[in-house]
Amino acid sequence: MEQIMRNMFLYMAKNQSANRLAKRYGLRFGARRFVAGETVDNAVTKTKALNEQGFKVTLDHLGESVFTRKEAEEAAKDCLRTLDAAAKEKLTVYLSIKLTQLGLDIDEAFCLEQVRGIVARAAGYGYFVRIDIEDYAHNEATLRLFNRVRSEFPDHIGLVIQACLYKSKKDVEVFGKEGVNLRLVKGAYKESPRVAFPDKADVDKNFIHLLEMHLTNGCFTAIATHDDTVIDHMKQFIANRGIQKDQYEFQMLYGIRTQLQERLVREGYPVRVYVPFGRDWYAYFMRRLAERPANVGFVLKSMFKS
Ligand code: FDA
Repeated sequence: MEQIMRNMFLYMAKNQSANRLAKRYGLRFGARRFVAGETVDNAVTKTKALNEQGFKVTLDHLGESVFTRKEAEEAAKDCLRTLDAAAKEKLTVYLSIKLTQLGLDIDEAFCLEQVRGIVARAAGYGYFVRIDIEDYAHNEATLRLFNRVRSEFPDHIGLVIQACLYKSKKDVEVFGKEGVNLRLVKGAYKESPRVAFPDKADVDKNFIHLLEMHLTNGCFTAIATHDDTVIDHMKQFIANRGIQKDQYEFQMLYGIRTQLQERLVREGYPVRVYVPFGRDWYAYFMRRLAERPANVGFVLKSMFKS
């Protein structure tokens, strides 16, 4: 049953009509639990509060699967506005971006120019940009574009790698040799068993393997998970190997396992919260429901409240 619901939410995440409707009607159905608000001001306010509590933040101006140049250019401007606002308020943040929001499906060269502009602005402020990783269909193009921008701004850009994909071991090996700053995640998209482990236990095992590999290679590693078993294992690994705090951080999503986030900060670990905001919340929200179909309970509650 859980698998059926998971597949259903991942299928719904791709529904463009529902996405358009959701944008028009604002944050609904409990999405506020996972999304910090609709405006840059909302995001700045939430980030300030998180920074004061000892968290670092990565901001994500929500959006993906954009198919017109105008929308993609608008998305790039939103990223620049976010960076400007963060710098003005001296926030401890970086930016997470999705390439399909910036025109990857329209024209790769156009997308490259947009990303270059965003990373140049971030570098000017001493900030960093992380390219989120999307579904397998966009994987190779994302890596290609990342490598192009990295050659110009090596210290200001990083990538995400998904443990669910068979190819990721090779990617982490290559990036490990080149000292690339990676966020490792399990993977949030529905993929074919031809390219990804169908069994969650294999994903979890590969996740730990890739985390250990990248840390052992001496590279900065963002351990992005809410999974207690992985977190406890990595705490032990970090302690045993004497890995310093400037080589890793734990990362979690806004609104998910907040008590665990707070506990890690109290214990002295570096923790960064991924703070999504904006009107284009629908697909992001569907993926969060897919990860934990039990979340549907509070969606129903919020529907009866409003
Ligand atoms: P797992 O799914 O095994 O969950 C472990 C426990 O965490 C659950 O038992 C539950 O308690 C809690 N939990 C997890 N998800 C929850 C939810 N939605 N609601 C409530 N509780 C939940 N993916 C991707 O493909 N590309 C990307 O760029 C990113 N970026 C990214 C950044 C950051 C900072 C994080 C934390 C995650 C991502 N992801 C991602 C998502 C990632 O791939 C994965 O889908 C989720 O993190 C869920 O997997 P966990 O590792 O948390 O483990």
